[in-house]
Amino acid sequence: MKITMIGTGYVGLVTGTCFAESGNDVTCLDVDTSKVALLNRGGVPIYEPGLEELVRRNSAAGRLKFTTDYESAIRSAQCIFICVGTPQDYSGAADLKYVQSAAENMAPFLRENAVVICKSTVPVGTNRRVADWIRSRTNTRFMIASNPEFLKEGAAIDDFTKPDRVVVGVDEPAAAEILQELYKPFLRTEKPFIVVGIESAEMIKYAANCMLATKISFINEMANICEKVGADINEVRKGIGHDARIGFSFLFPGVGYGGSCFPKDVRALASLAAQHGLDARILRTVDETNNEQKNTLFRKLMDHFEGNLTGRTVAIWGLSFKPRTDDIREAPSLVLIQNLLAAGCAVKVHDPVALENVRREIGDLVEYCVHHYDACDGADAICIVTEWNEFRNPDFDYIRLKMKSPVIFDGRNLYDRQKMAARGFHYSGVGLSALPVEAK
Ligand SMILES: NC(=O)c1ccc[n+]([C@@H]2O[C@H](COP(=O)([O-])OP(=O)(O)OC[C@H]3O[C@@H](n4cnc5c(N)ncnc54)[C@H](O)[C@@H]3O)[C@@H](O)[C@H]2O)c1
Repeated sequence: MKITMIGTGYVGLVTGTCFAESGNDVTCLDVDTSKVALLNRGGVPIYEPGLEELVRRNSAAGRLKFTTDYESAIRSAQCIFICVGTPQDYSGAADLKYVQSAAENMAPFLRENAVVICKSTVPVGTNRRVADWIRSRTNTRFMIASNPEFLKEGAAIDDFTKPDRVVVGVDEPAAAEILQELYKPFLRTEKPFIVVGIESAEMIKYAANCMLATKISFINEMANICEKVGADINEVRKGIGHDARIGFSFLFPGVGYGGSCFPKDVRALASLAAQHGLDARILRTVDETNNEQKNTLFRKLMDHFEGNLTGRTVAIWGLSFKPRTDDIREAPSLVLIQNLLAAGCAVKVHDPVALENVRREIGDLVEYCVHHYDACDGADAICIVTEWNEFRNPDFDYIRLKMKSPVIFDGRNLYDRQKMAARGFHYSGVGLSALPVEAK
């Protein structure tokens, strides 16, 4: 099938490449000329495990192409996926300007009965607006469909090629049939292809993300209470997770969720509810709780150093909003860095893949370290913000030697606090208070 992805970011590039891998003829279109040039030179603009090899293989086979030219990308495409960003606008709502521009730019070149599919996360009602934007520029007959994307960065290829379900919202059964054909290779393990109305499909994506964000804010709140009352959130998590009605997934306490989806999607749904006269109290609280949670490590540092961080050096391990991605959008690390700099600290940071993205965002306000051990040199404390695998079993004796004082604030509960006390560290996790350090 001839397919065009409009928007070649995390979603458009991953899903377009996976469609090419299953034998389709895919064109990825983007307005970012440097991104397209890089892809045409064989580079990949984002870090996503396994993606580079797939892009190379399918480009070499001629099934995957990159362009900035709407006319050539749209003319022969049977399916056109809109995968452009839908960031938050000044009011908290989703900003649809990129979606509108994609719709208007493709319109003059659409072929008869093409299917225009919105994969971007958009508020209920947007797909119908997309149809209106297109109709304002062409008389060609086309079909529309909503096809929300559920992939997670860091495991995007697996999520897309082995989905739990595919959701498609349509008016016309013919559009659903075409999409079912396209998704067939990914649904061979009998995972459901769910066909619903367009408004329901749009709502499903927001409801899913808001549920997951709610679970995170819930467990973070439980963790904060645990700390105050002397309970251990790891033990509490075990005790509740075995209840089949609750389960374990998305119940890891931490320093707040970030990324390009949860924060903006929670706010966008709350904003949509408000436009319809509803106060989405749960969503507003989830967002507030999350914003507050991003300050948790800073608060702990302030308590530990008796309210004065001036002249201290703090190492940060992990900058991306989660492991296995270089995405730093709304990352908790950025809030921590900002707080530390404002408090007069020197900050040394390490991340396996996100250093350059942070440098682009904040410049030389912090020291960038190629190895996580380098960040410990002369540090008064380490803050662990992202749970990269390479942080799980470090050489603690070596770290202690490098640090000015053996203090670790762990935002991801990577270590055993008894063992950390025995190793001579002041160690505090989230939902775990520090134990007295044992004499070494
Ligand atoms: N990133 C995720 O994990 C994820 C998961 C599911 C859904 N989504 C949703 O998918 C959408 C895209 O997210 P993303 O993370 O891939 O965004 P992104 O910012 O990584 O990529 C968007 C791309 O669209 C391009 N673009 C903007 N306007 C354009 C236009 N008019 N024509 C052609 N290209 C244009 C940009 O240059 C950019 O390369 C968003 O709505 C997001 O909420 C994202």
